[in-house]
Parts: sequence; structure tokens; C-alpha cells
Amino acid sequence: MCGISAYIGKKEAVSVVLEGLKKLEYRGYDSWGIAALNGEPAAFSVVKRVGKIGEVSGDYLKKAIKGESHIAIAHTRWATHGGVTEENTHPHLDCSGKIAVVHNGIVDNYQELKQELLERGHKFSSQTDTEIIPHIIEGLIGEGLEFAAAVREAAGRLKGRSAFVAVFAATGQLAAARKGTPLILGVHEDNSDELFIASDVTAFLEHTNKVMYLDDGEMVLLNGRAMFFSLETGKEVWKRVVEIHWHAGAIEKEGYDHFLIKEIMEQKDTLFRAINQDDAKITTVAESVKNAFGTFFVGCGTAGKVCMTGEYLFSKIAERHVNSVVASEFANYQHYLTPKSLMIAISQSGETADVLEAIEVAKSRQVKVISLLNVFGSTMMRKSDDFFMVNAGAERAVVSTKATTAQLAVLTLLAYATAGKLQDGKLLLMDAAGSVNDMLNPRYEEHIKKLARLLINKQNIFVIGRGLNYPMALEASIKLQETCYIHSQGFAAGELKHGPLALIEEGTPCIAFVANDETKADMVSNVMEVKARGGYIIGIAPENNEVFDYWLKVPDAGDASPIVNIIPIQILAYHIAVLRGLNPDFPRNLAKSVTVK
Ligand code: AGP
Ligand code: GLU
Repeated sequence: MCGISAYIGKKEAVSVVLEGLKKLEYRGYDSWGIAALNGEPAAFSVVKRVGKIGEVSGDYLKKAIKGESHIAIAHTRWATHGGVTEENTHPHLDCSGKIAVVHNGIVDNYQELKQELLERGHKFSSQTDTEIIPHIIEGLIGEGLEFAAAVREAAGRLKGRSAFVAVFAATGQLAAARKGTPLILGVHEDNSDELFIASDVTAFLEHTNKVMYLDDGEMVLLNGRAMFFSLETGKEVWKRVVEIHWHAGAIEKEGYDHFLIKEIMEQKDTLFRAINQDDAKITTVAESVKNAFGTFFVGCGTAGKVCMTGEYLFSKIAERHVNSVVASEFANYQHYLTPKSLMIAISQSGETADVLEAIEVAKSRQVKVISLLNVFGSTMMRKSDDFFMVNAGAERAVVSTKATTAQLAVLTLLAYATAGKLQDGKLLLMDAAGSVNDMLNPRYEEHIKKLARLLINKQNIFVIGRGLNYPMALEASIKLQETCYIHSQGFAAGELKHGPLALIEEGTPCIAFVANDETKADMVSNVMEVKARGGYIIGIAPENNEVFDYWLKVPDAGDASPIVNIIPIQILAYHIAVLRGLNPDFPRNLAKSVTVK
């Protein structure tokens, strides 16, 4: 889940990795550390701090790390093994202090490896799984292996999903190995004078948009130039240079206070981009759904709620049953997968470990996998048989917004294409995108802010919906939980009377999605039942209703109602968080790219 930023080249390395790390902070923000190689003989200067790196200046680091450096590695941590302390912060060093390592992910077998190392006299100074890596490399170099061979052998001993970057002070070499979590190389045309390694291109996008992807089971040695090898065979692997089309500005706040509100506002454009799909591509995916004997939409968290919405969209629009499955549960469905089944994996990052595991399960049963993604070049894209993109642009806030509505739009389009009505779908969605453009204005935001002021001290917020908007009730709850730290639960409105209604007291806020569709009459009845027990009703609907205590108007968008309905909730969650003094870009305990199981 962490961010890794490494550099070797003619520039001052500490400032390069520092700026890179700041861009990766959304991946993990428990603590950060940098190791730079400098001096004669070359040795590591290391700085580690608990907390965010956002405000740290280059001057501060110049004081902390003396002397110029042209090789540095940096890490922002999302702790898995060992508390959030300075000693557990990466980079970790071996006993001799000559090998520094930053690591993303988990070493599943670290306990047995650590035991062996302890028996051989290695001394540890952290509780992390990571620290075994420099010690293994140290041991192997001690046995006569060269650095690159030692890195390869060490990587081979690690079980679990991870990736690491190691630097050897004695030779000034840098090597990285990938076993399940991403590492990308940034290069210049000639692949020589400076090289970047990071867990995400955003770390070095301001320097170069030319990248080389490290695949799973591969390592790279930076030794004047980048040389790639297979971890299994040790044979050199040829790589091509790929150009990334995101511009560096896309990953800045561009005048907004937070990435979250910037990305919410970007939905004015992103929906149009999502809908602007290649007709032939959408039709091909739709054909795959039609021909499949069992289609599974698979995702996690918010993307999981999009999958669930897909189930309703396909039922309603294409009269076809598809299954939505939470990725971490997918393995439990494998018993009835066949080569005729189809998996549509949905993920913003394309790196989510639970989804990657689900894809592996599917592949082991010869199931075709098509991924719906936002990040080009992501691991899921490379592991799938086919992919299509939502084109929402870089999403930096941990709280997903523009990628979510883009995913909803593409799934709606796919349902229409499956029904043989692609152009109808496009027209409907163009209308909805136009309405979203109108909605996102300062007056509307102010009206929602007023509601946020009424809700800031609430302990619980319930959300209800039916049909297409039941998954949106669940999604609304995720938004409120992660952004404002308010306990929130979403329900199918009809389920309230089977238990949750007991929780409604005088003044309990209940958000109700009342779409202008076949669910409307029942929704209004359910809302009445809540109101009768003292609930404070926030209606999200195209028309006002006397039962609403507070009305958030949304356009009447037909089958696109999930898209327009979730937008006021995104704005509401943002403003409640800000009013509560929280930083909405960095929800506690979370990270943007969830690369651990
Ligand atoms: C979204 O607001 C959440 N932070 C989270 O649930 C997220 O949607 C989930 O982790 C899946 O991520 P992905 O789309 O990158 O796979
Ligand atoms: N497992 C390692 C640790 O806890 C790495 C975590 C990460 O990916 O940030 O330090």
C-alpha cells in the first residue's frame, strides 16, 4: 500500500525522491523515510519521521542529510507489521549498514526467515517483515554472491505479494524486484542518464512520461542503464518504453483546498469522457456478456458497490442476470466456475490485492477476465484477457468520486449495449452528464453545506434506497464513514422494518434516495415509517415531498439515477469532514491503493 520513490542520476537525488514521495502520500501516510547515498566512502544518510511528509521542505532535508547525493530511495508507509514508529519506518538497513531497502506489501513467511537470520547472528531493529530483506541480501553477499544475484535470490525466498527496492553502498547499484505489487521505471529516451523507480508514475511524471513496466516475477538492476531479468531464470528480459498520457498538472490541487473537492468538481467533464467509449469495444464486451454462461462483476469497497449496481442495471435494461461478488469473497464461488464463465473486474487503481487474487482464481478455472479500469498500465490491465477504461483521469483522493461515477456510466452503457440499445444508452448518459455539469455550481454546494452544518455532530446517519439506488445507499455510507468518521449504514429500504428501524430515534438522520421510477411509491412509504418514529429525513429526489425535512434536488435521470444521486452525498461528506476539522484527502487508517489482502 506504501509509496516508493527511488532515483539514480545527475540531479540532487534527495529533492527528487522527496517531491516524488509527496505525490505518493495518498498510498500510505503513517510515516516516511529517505536513505541517500553520499560521502567518500559512500554511506547512507537516513531520515525517518512518523506522520505525513506533505509539509517537509527540501531545506529541512538538506540539514538532515548532509552532502550531495545522486542515489536515494524513499518510502511512505502504510503499516502492516509493527506499529507506527520511527524504528519501523523504511528504509531498513542490514547489520553492516551497506544495504538499504524499501518495501511494499507483506512477506508472508517472514517469521521463519527472521528466525533463520537470528540464528545466524543478524541483529534487527524493527518489528517489520521488511527488515529481513536487507539481512538476507547481506547474508548472500557474504556467501560470495554479487549484489544483483543476491537480490534475485532474496526475492525468490519471499512469499506473499510485495515489491522492494534495494541499494548497495559498496557499488552504488540499485535493484528492484516485483512479486505482486507494482513498480514502474521512469526513463529518458536513451535509457541512461537518470532513472526513476516508483510504485506509481505520478512520483516522476514531472520529469518524464516514458516508462518501462516491471512485471511480476521480474527484477531490474540500475547500473548505468536499466537491465531487466526474470527472477525465476535469471535471464535478461527485453522491455519496451511506453508513453503515459497523463499530464503532471492532473495530479495537483489546481487551486482547490483538497483533491477530494477538485475531483468531485471534475465530474463536470469526466462523465462525458467515460461515455465517449469506442462503440466497437463496448459491443465486443457486451457480446462476451451475452455469450457467457454466468457473468461475475467483481470489485472491492466502492467499486464493489458499482458492481452491485451493475446487477440491477443488467436486470432492468438488458433483462439478464449477472452476479456481483465482493472480490475478497470470490474464491468461495470458484466451485461453479467454468471456462464459459466471465469475470468483469472493476477497479480504479487496478492494483487492489483482493481483486488480483480473484482474477487469479478465475484464471485458474479458465474464466475469461475483462477489467474496467482507470489506470493505464496497472497490474490488472496486464493480468486480464481484455480491458476497457473509464477515462476519469488521475484520482488522488483516497475517497473515490469521479472514478465511481465514470464506472457507473460505463456499466450503464454496457447494459444498454447488451440490450442492443447502445445509442439509447449514450443519449441517456449524455443527458445525465449535462445535468451533473449544471448541478456542480456554487449555489448547490452552499445548500449542501447548510445541511452539513446540521449534521456535523451526529453519531449515526442511515441511508436507504431501493432498486438501482440500494447499492448507492451502501456507497453513500462508505463515503460518510471514510470521509467524516460518522457511523453510517445503508439499507434496502424494505429491510428497515425487519430490524434496523429499532435504531431510529427522535432526530436520527436518514438519507433517502427517492428516484422517479417504479420504486418511488414504496420508497415514500418507507420514508414515512422512519419519519413516524422521529427520523430526520433528507430526501435526494427530483421532486420535493412533504415527508422530507431537507431536500437535495437531483435531476430526473432515469436509469442514470445512481450517478446523479451519489454526487450530493460526495459533496455532503466533503463538507462535513472539513467542518469537523478533518483532512478529507487522508482518511485515517486507509490508503488509496490497497495492495494487501
Ligand atoms: C473508495 O472511496 C474507497 N476508498 C475504497 O472502497 C475503494 O473503492 C476500494 O479500495 C477499491 O479500490 P479500487 O477501485 O482501486 O480497486
Ligand atoms: N509490511 C511492511 C511494513 O509494515 C510494508 C508496508 C507498506 O506496504 O507500507 O512496514
